[in-house]
Amino acid sequence: MLGYDDTELLIEKINQWYGYDFSGYARASLRRRIEGFFLKNKFSSYSSMELSLAQDPACFTRFVEEITVNVTEMFRDPGFYRALREKILPVLATYPFIRIWHAGCSTGEEVYSMAILLSEASLLHKSILYATDVNQAVLEKARTGIFAGASMQQYSENYMLSGGQKDFSSYYTANYNSAKFAPWLGERIIFSSHNLVADSSFNEFQLILCRNVLIYFDKQLQVKVLQLFDKSLDSLGFLALGSKESIRFSGIADRYRQVDPKEKIWRKSR
Ligand SMILES: C[S@@+](CC[C@H](N)C(=O)[O-])C[C@H]1O[C@@H](n2cnc3c(N)ncnc32)[C@H](O)[C@@H]1O
Repeated sequence: MLGYDDTELLIEKINQWYGYDFSGYARASLRRRIEGFFLKNKFSSYSSMELSLAQDPACFTRFVEEITVNVTEMFRDPGFYRALREKILPVLATYPFIRIWHAGCSTGEEVYSMAILLSEASLLHKSILYATDVNQAVLEKARTGIFAGASMQQYSENYMLSGGQKDFSSYYTANYNSAKFAPWLGERIIFSSHNLVADSSFNEFQLILCRNVLIYFDKQLQVKVLQLFDKSLDSLGFLALGSKESIRFSGIADRYRQVDPKEKIWRKSR
């Protein structure tokens, strides 16, 4: 078991060695993930793990992959996607050009769901979707547009519950145990590396989605990231968070109003 001091020291050293600052990650889950990394890699002792991390950048890359939680799915929380379809896309449709940022996109299921929504609203051609994550391995997977075949039934149900009316399987080609999504869906998506802890704003967006990412951060880091989103949003832009996340107590809340009473979507006011 990693002690409190061990964890804090490791976080500090990793920041010195690689410039990755995990000090704002919620401690209980961070410590569990570090322990998971230790066991998975069968280190003989805590100091041998530290030595490998210090000397081997590939080991550090695996560490980042293990520390970040990458669980995701297509049309996750279908009610959220229904609200996007019914309340947000009609507003975005009035813009000549739509820029969307998926921060913490994981393996891409969320941004592909958005591409489907946009295409069904005839908006994909004038949209650009930036999908970013700190974990290089998930980005590489996301770029393939290939998802687990076994998940398709669940995703198809989610899609229909979100208000989708097409045959969901028309969006992909099934192959053994995988599903490859149509390349045209990915044409408006730019996948790139971005660390919410350290990197700055890189564009101005009409919609930012950062779902199920802030729950892994402590309050202070949540506030910092929400301020980054505030800076990156158009004057009337939308911000969407995960079901357990909120902008309350973040200092930006007074400039936003919740668009849907049930879903975590806010609109910035002038
Ligand atoms: C649980 S997934 C959420 C995926 C998707 N947004 C969803 O709701 O289905 C959290 C993602 O946040 C990413 N993440 C964690 N820390 C990050 C950071 N500092 N900067 C950018 N992304 C980060 C993880 O790599 C992971 O892919």
